[in-house]
Amino acid sequence: MKAEDLVRAAKCARDHARAAHSGFKVGAAVETRKGKLYSGCNVENSTYGLTVCAERVAIWKALSEGESDFRRLVVVADTEDLTPPCGACRQIIWEYCGDIEVVLANLKGGRARYRMRELLPFPFDSRFLGKE
Ligand code: THU
Repeated sequence: MKAEDLVRAAKCARDHARAAHSGFKVGAAVETRKGKLYSGCNVENSTYGLTVCAERVAIWKALSEGESDFRRLVVVADTEDLTPPCGACRQIIWEYCGDIEVVLANLKGGRARYRMRELLPFPFDSRFLGKE
């Protein structure tokens, strides 16, 4: 799958963002190693704290369909400086997707690529719990 296919899916999901409180719409799409795609948008809540980011919605959808092997994740927002995943999402992406490629995109064609290792260089994970 091309990165632009994922960007397109993330943009479509972004159109469904429930961002009535912030007005900040985000779309995400995660690709499995077998080439399946799951997208998500941010879903806000009037209590604010219950808001879930687009990245996590996409990952929850994939996990709940039985997926566990991921290749790439795309985040799309309408910002000049490309919007990166928040700290909480970085932790979740690391936990469930590992050192995948993360592509940031905006609506004007801006793109940047990172590895999760770059976005979360010193992660806490299950190794510290003695589970590996
Ligand atoms: N948001 C995301 O969905 N993903 C990000 O990477 C950054 C922030 C959402 C959460 C909230 O609905 C809105 O953007 C403003 O923070």
